[in-house]
Amino acid sequence: MVNVAVLGYGTVGSGVVEVIERNNVEVSGKCGEEVHVKYILDLREFPGDPYEDKVVHDFQVILEDREVSVVCEVMGGIKFAYPYTKQLLEAGKSVCTSNKELVAKHGAELLDIAEKNHCSYLFEASVGGGIPIIRTINHAMTPERIEAVAGILNGTTNYILTKMEQEGTDYAQALKQAQDLGYAERNPQADVEGHDACRKTAILASLMTGRNVDSEKIFTEGITEITTADFAFAKGANMTIKLLGTARLQEDGSVLAMVAPHMIAENHSLAMVNGVFNGIFVTGNMLGDIMLYGHGAGKLPTASAVTADVVDCVRNQGKTLPCHWEQAECRLADVLLTSKRFFVRVKAQGCGAIEEAFPGSERLEVPGMEEKGYFTPVMTEKEFEEKYSALSEFVLGRIRVM
Ligand code: HSE
Repeated sequence: MVNVAVLGYGTVGSGVVEVIERNNVEVSGKCGEEVHVKYILDLREFPGDPYEDKVVHDFQVILEDREVSVVCEVMGGIKFAYPYTKQLLEAGKSVCTSNKELVAKHGAELLDIAEKNHCSYLFEASVGGGIPIIRTINHAMTPERIEAVAGILNGTTNYILTKMEQEGTDYAQALKQAQDLGYAERNPQADVEGHDACRKTAILASLMTGRNVDSEKIFTEGITEITTADFAFAKGANMTIKLLGTARLQEDGSVLAMVAPHMIAENHSLAMVNGVFNGIFVTGNMLGDIMLYGHGAGKLPTASAVTADVVDCVRNQGKTLPCHWEQAECRLADVLLTSKRFFVRVKAQGCGAIEEAFPGSERLEVPGMEEKGYFTPVMTEKEFEEKYSALSEFVLGRIRVM
């Protein structure tokens, strides 16, 4: 019999308990022995909850119970999750988590502690919700030099952008719906400002290179400036707008990583990833492109991914499941030196100034809209930003074009 503890009884935590107990035939059957939740750690009481008798308030109870061999850390944040995870791993208990903030910041160190203590630190649910992206990179793609990962990594922002595009819902209302559905972070700024996608990009880039990619050094822009007018122009150009996280290996061994909204062709595979779904391309030098698609957020999909890690830990007790992610820092390429096209939205009286600043741009008009759109030629971010910032009296917004 394997006893599991769950740290945090929020959306994901309650999902993990539900998956382990409701799907116990599958979970225990695939582990080869009975698996049950022994403790749920939370500050709150849950009167009337079917698992209220498992709730404890003192972390030491879990740490000191030798019967607990696997712990699901689904409390989020760093303040408590970091010291708790360290202590659990040092005590030889495997930890499975959905906490991308902690994995992005301390993943390499925690993996090292797990290895020294013959247990595992697994984090399938930290990227892509229920999509098995970490397993794919760590196990299915072991022969590959992974050259790029790129995709839609945040369900909340994809839900908002889809609602804006398909139903003309305003931004605030769409965000509220995403929160009500349990997709958003406790502080939804982390979603809409791109920090959540940035942490996931850092995790994928670290796994891709085997070296630590510092999320704080990744160029990150969120979706707060995207408007329904941008979608009207995108539609006019047979395109749509998606928040993309990308990491691409450069010839000099550095990695070009960024998170930003992009205009993409409406027939691109990522344009078809809508609502809370995530879609992620991984490019291997032998395999070529694969694309993974599935629920990127939400209680049960995320909990299922955490529970898949629990099963792996139970099947491999006394061992460390390998993960190539060293603490040595990975060098990041300078985003300002990269080249691409940009879409610029401009007041009608700014057309002359734009055409002069960006010769060769393509003009786009939307019937009934006074403002105009332009696609610039390919240019570096640096050159674009210099010219764009000098046009502040005319411009209404800009989006990178993929
Ligand atoms: N807030 C995150 C999202 C949850 O919307 O993708 C899953 O990581």
